[in-house]
Amino acid sequence: MAAPKHFLQFRDLARDELEHVFARTRWIKETFKRYEPYRPLVDRTMVMIFEKQSTRTRLSFEAGMQQLGGAAIFMSTRDSQLGRGEPVEDAAKVISRMCDIVMIRTFEQDTVERFARHSRVPVINGLTDEHHPCQILADLYTYIEHRGSIRGRTVAWIGDANNVCYSWLQAAEVLDFRLHVSTPPGYEVVAARAGSGGTAHYALFADPLEAARGAHLVTTDVWTSMGFEAEADARRAAFARWQVDEAMMRAAAPDALFMHCLPAHRGEEVAAAVIDGPQSVVWDEAENRLHAQKALIEYLLLGRVGS
Ligand code: CP
Ligand code: NVA
Repeated sequence: MAAPKHFLQFRDLARDELEHVFARTRWIKETFKRYEPYRPLVDRTMVMIFEKQSTRTRLSFEAGMQQLGGAAIFMSTRDSQLGRGEPVEDAAKVISRMCDIVMIRTFEQDTVERFARHSRVPVINGLTDEHHPCQILADLYTYIEHRGSIRGRTVAWIGDANNVCYSWLQAAEVLDFRLHVSTPPGYEVVAARAGSGGTAHYALFADPLEAARGAHLVTTDVWTSMGFEAEADARRAAFARWQVDEAMMRAAAPDALFMHCLPAHRGEEVAAAVIDGPQSVVWDEAENRLHAQKALIEYLLLGRVGS
């Protein structure tokens, strides 16, 4: 049996594979908007395993599988044997004999990597503490949809060096754009996790306004990610200057976009005037989770359809 293809980190897809997935995202979205059925996955099943909460990820994968003609089964670690200490390796062997593709949202990246090593079917990372590659797939598609190729452009990341930030860092390396990162002291990017060794694709800024200067896209995320709630008070104090506000958007390029993976906290990491303002594309970004992930699922299960 050939080894399945997984999407566990952003760099699991090469540039030409991403270009294919983005082209398919466009076709799948347009076809869906015309109410034309596209059901290549009749009788195929996705198992979705959640160890953390979700609105967008669950809904986009579940709706996406249904729209492609397949089915999606939700499993939470609270009400399955996964929460009672069944080894990940055993769970992977059993679950992957009963379905065609698996999506996992959990804490440690090591859990999805171990699951994937023992799975007969493709595994998709639906967010871990370290990475959120599906989010960046949708974000990049959203950028392309609004502004064209991201190659050579500058993206400003303001805030926590978290899972979403590391997926952006990998994307910058794979797709050849620059990431300007500004984090508060004590919450910096870990260089060893930021890419394959070179730093040509990113630059660090102590001042968030300088990171935003001239950027074509400004993006941020919550100050406290899931699993880090005990640090929320300390983070609120440390991140106070790292709010994306109107001054930051004025420092960016005149046609800069604003993105946020959501859920957002207005008045913390982003000012209401920015997220609800004219440069914000957060609703397109959220919708594009659906279309981009349908293209991803199609690619992992069926290969290069349509090319
Ligand atoms: N952006 C994102 O992954 O949202 P959910 O946590 O609602 O899935
Ligand atoms: N960084 C956030 C993203 C939520 C979609 C978290 O991990 O909670």
